[in-house]
Amino acid sequence: MAKFSHLQVAAMVLFSFLLTLSLGWWLPEILLQLVKVFGCPEELVSHCIVLMYLVFVLCLVTPALPRGSVKVEDKTILITGCDTGIGFALAKHLHAKGFSVFAGCLLKDKNGEGAQILEKNKCERLKVLQMNTCSDEEVLQAVEFVRRHLRDPEKGLWGVVNNAGISTFGEVEFTSVAHYKEIADVNLWGTIRATKAFLPLIRRANGRIVNVASMFGRFGIAGLSAYCISNYGMEAFSDCLRYEQRRWGVKVSIIEPGNYLAATDILTHSHIESTAHRLWNETSEIVKDDYGKAYFDRQTITMKSFNSSSSKDISPIINAITDALTSRYPYCRYEPMDAYWWVRFHILTYLPTPIADWLYNN
Ligand SMILES: NC(=O)c1ccc[n+]([C@@H]2O[C@H](COP(=O)([O-])OP(=O)(O)OC[C@H]3O[C@@H](n4cnc5c(N)ncnc54)[C@H](OP(=O)(O)O)[C@@H]3O)[C@@H](O)[C@H]2O)c1
Repeated sequence: MAKFSHLQVAAMVLFSFLLTLSLGWWLPEILLQLVKVFGCPEELVSHCIVLMYLVFVLCLVTPALPRGSVKVEDKTILITGCDTGIGFALAKHLHAKGFSVFAGCLLKDKNGEGAQILEKNKCERLKVLQMNTCSDEEVLQAVEFVRRHLRDPEKGLWGVVNNAGISTFGEVEFTSVAHYKEIADVNLWGTIRATKAFLPLIRRANGRIVNVASMFGRFGIAGLSAYCISNYGMEAFSDCLRYEQRRWGVKVSIIEPGNYLAATDILTHSHIESTAHRLWNETSEIVKDDYGKAYFDRQTITMKSFNSSSSKDISPIINAITDALTSRYPYCRYEPMDAYWWVRFHILTYLPTPIADWLYNN
């Protein structure tokens, strides 16, 4: 039997409750007026109500429906940003599942710890390679390395997971243009560079592109504009790519994780402190005078509490990426996040902006 999460059960119960209330109250009357306006028969009202309920239940049940899976043994994946965090855990996880894995590391050539641990595996199916996604040269070298080590390059590469990323914080007036560019250079341009370079191999396998963006690719939040714009860009790039690659049988999925800061190295407390120091030093005197240091320090404290309140277990992200690579019918978007961010995500994404603003950005 299909398993439902607590959230799905709660949503179904709440919807049934609201539907029952509205049925006894105002919904039939409104629908009746509508069918009269359009000159349709009155029976359509009951049909509409049943249809609404069916659509809702179907939306909730669909994620649990079996979607089949592909054989992993003959498949190879390249992951970027495997030195730490999600990339590091994913490389080990996919290798354990039977995939052949190319783990791209930023610091392999500098004997980075993550690269060294992965290399200790000494397994034919797990290869570590130097790959800075901001460098044309290193990305092209990575493509050649992968091509040389594939069993049959003509059969291509099954998947690329664009995971490498960096983060920051700071309100717009405290963020220099150079800082905006640094973040976009890795998160957006790095993703585009790696994707374009590997697409010919991916196309040969009718494979998968999995882009690790963020919930902040779907809604903005004060104090994170540099990170948000790079993720919005990734979302747009991934959507366009999905439409274009359909004709080749290449599937593109976007992973939109919630807050897992404390589980990875992306924005640690010491990183927050050094970023705060940098932002303040780079800010113009007029902005410093207008906002004041006390206001600025409160943003830093908020960021630290954002880190402390995060989910500590990244397995929902790992499972989402694995599903995008192994399911016969992967989703276009995965939203691994806790209940608080799930509700906020859906309100900010689907409700009219004035209502969402009133609820969350007052
Ligand atoms: N953790 C979260 O809460 C969260 C939430 C939403 C989305 N994400 C996304 O998840 C992805 C993975 O992040 P994470 O949380 O696992 O953080 P992480 O532990 O910092 O891992 C990211 C890795 O990417 C590497 N990297 C940075 N620049 C690179 C470049 N130019 N080329 C290749 N590798 C590079 C980093 O190396 P250095 O450490 O040396 O910089 C780091 O090892 C990111 O795209 C991030 O935006 C994370």
